[in-house]
Amino acid sequence: MIKINNLSKLYKRGIETIPALNEITTNIKEGDFICLLGPSGAGKTTLLNIIGCMDLPTNGQLEIAGRQITAEGVPKIKGEVLDRFRREHIGFIFTDFFLIPTLSALENVEMPLLWSGSKMKNKAKELLELVGLGHRLTHRPNELSGGEMQRVAIARALVNHPKILLADEPTGNLDTKTRDTILDLFTTLNQNGLTIILATHDHEIATQVPRVIHLNEGRIAG
Ligand SMILES: Nc1ncnc2c1ncn2[C@@H]1O[C@H](COP(=O)(O)OP(=O)(O)O)[C@@H](O)[C@H]1O
Ligand SMILES: [Mg+2]
Repeated sequence: MIKINNLSKLYKRGIETIPALNEITTNIKEGDFICLLGPSGAGKTTLLNIIGCMDLPTNGQLEIAGRQITAEGVPKIKGEVLDRFRREHIGFIFTDFFLIPTLSALENVEMPLLWSGSKMKNKAKELLELVGLGHRLTHRPNELSGGEMQRVAIARALVNHPKILLADEPTGNLDTKTRDTILDLFTTLNQNGLTIILATHDHEIATQVPRVIHLNEGRIAG
């Protein structure tokens, strides 16, 4: 489903060059649930952003769902085609939820449907029910707990039926009990066929995820 071959990313800041990723090679199969585990600065966000087609590597190849995304730093799809590919294949979740404060839970989940032109508005409600928030449809983000806000963000990430869910430190702002309920939700979604890559520095999360990829100083370490 995701083929990563010899992927490197260098950041240039003035005369300084920061190697964020060094020759990463790995394959992620459809239905995998992967914990990308590493300390701060390991390159987790950089790798997720590249897999999420939001950033370009300096070198190497990336293929998603049989489609070449980049090869040797050159994008193979771009513009509207890339936007559509990203929308149809990938959902993204962040530590800080990034919900729109003036919109209700339901309206936040409906947001991506505006871009896709989809008329399946019931989908947003169904997804909120799936993540356990059927009773919070009209609540605004400031009327929700952290765990509930992350559930809204998960529902929003899934509304266009992506096959892949990328989560960057999704439980970083949650207490351990809420963290575990969100992890249980990821496990359920994975058992229903969703491919998940979850980046974290939290070793306890790694014990609850089927496959762990250790990232350290931009390299895979086992
Ligand atoms: N936009 C950027 N410009 C320069 N250096 C960056 C940039 N983004 C990240 N880095 C550097 O790349 C390395 C990996 O960062 P990151 O992918 O954010 O790691 P992690 O998510 O594991 O904490 C770090 O050394 C970081 O300082
Ligand atoms: Mg990060």
